Amino acid sequence: MYILGIDTSCDETSAAVIENSCILSNVVSSQANFHRAYGGVVPSIAKLNHQLKIDKVVNMALKRAGIQFNDLEYIAVTIGPGLAIALEVGINFAKKISTEFKIPIIPINHMEGHLWSFFLQPHKRDFDRWSNNNSISYPSLGVLISGGHSEFILVEGFRKYTKIGETLDDACGECLDKCARTIGLGYPGGIVLAKLANIYRHRFIINVINNIQLKYVQITSKYDSNISFMLPIPKSTSLDFNLSFSGLKTAFNNLVSSIKKLDKEIIFALCVLLEATAMYSILVKIEKIIEKYKDIKELWLGGGVVANNLLNKLLRRFAKQQNLVIRKPYSKKLTGDNAAMIALIAYLNFIHNIRYSYNIDKIDRIPSLDITETSLLY
Ligand code: KG4
Ligand code: ZN
Repeated sequence: MYILGIDTSCDETSAAVIENSCILSNVVSSQANFHRAYGGVVPSIAKLNHQLKIDKVVNMALKRAGIQFNDLEYIAVTIGPGLAIALEVGINFAKKISTEFKIPIIPINHMEGHLWSFFLQPHKRDFDRWSNNNSISYPSLGVLISGGHSEFILVEGFRKYTKIGETLDDACGECLDKCARTIGLGYPGGIVLAKLANIYRHRFIINVINNIQLKYVQITSKYDSNISFMLPIPKSTSLDFNLSFSGLKTAFNNLVSSIKKLDKEIIFALCVLLEATAMYSILVKIEKIIEKYKDIKELWLGGGVVANNLLNKLLRRFAKQQNLVIRKPYSKKLTGDNAAMIALIAYLNFIHNIRYSYNIDKIDRIPSLDITETSLLY
């Protein structure tokens, strides 16, 4: 079964073709260059770029997969969450080809795509992972950390989702990007910041300091003890499972303003410190969740930030101690926004016998769609 996926939820125009759970093509055209000058995604620029690229990106996905529109069983399109006017472009294009080639559209929740992105397989025709290699144990914990979202989802089966924690303000990736910009790393700087932290982390001693009110991350240079900085881990002692990154951003900005000269060594120190504080803040909450929900058996990682090396290291160590299985996408290209994960959800709907009644007039964007509202779509 061939499914075309389309995602225009933010600043990536993406189209993919999957056959069952296998990726035949996954075209992702980034608009970062167009938003760089503004230091963030500008919705009207995103919309314009999607409009200019969507036709080409979709045709390229079909060409790379070696199939034609008539071969498709379904068109899966993201209807939310995301930027309203950006989502609209993908939805309208899906409707156009749906009408022309008489292919049903399946509306998809973008976050559900991130949640199941580990399930995608590299190209291997005629392979059905659900019946051939479905060793999933429930309940699982979805850890979805991206530029737009940071949330913890208790998964008790396909479509059985409970959100047990989320950021109260900025998303983790958003915080990394904004802080990276403050220290001159450009946009989107979260990836640059993580790269620098990865290269220079070994030059620092990282300590987590436990205080009754709050935990802190402190880093000290192994070569110059004068280089020593500290940041609070947001919400580290609160009992709930929510995150907060806006306070971290403010604390980071205050720290940067207090430093007289931002030389290279200091910039590297700041990258190591911010990354460690953000990743420990995620780990601290996962520890709390696992302490409460003792029957959780797996951690499912999705979203751009889960490509982070330190986060992976911390979670691998924790999962080993707690006997948890970690699942994440097989390629970094699948942690960020992509349309293969959108097509996958249409396939999972199909194998769970969830059928969407074909009425394209009812399909519309839902910019603030929550993952727990997914079942309302069908
Ligand atoms: O999932 P994604 O591609 O888009 C959204 O849906 O938001 O995530 C993008 C975010 C950006 O904020 C980017 O800085 C961050 O993921 N990111 C990383 C890494 N790679 C991407 N953050 C930390 N470490 C990384 N290796
Ligand atoms: Zn996303």
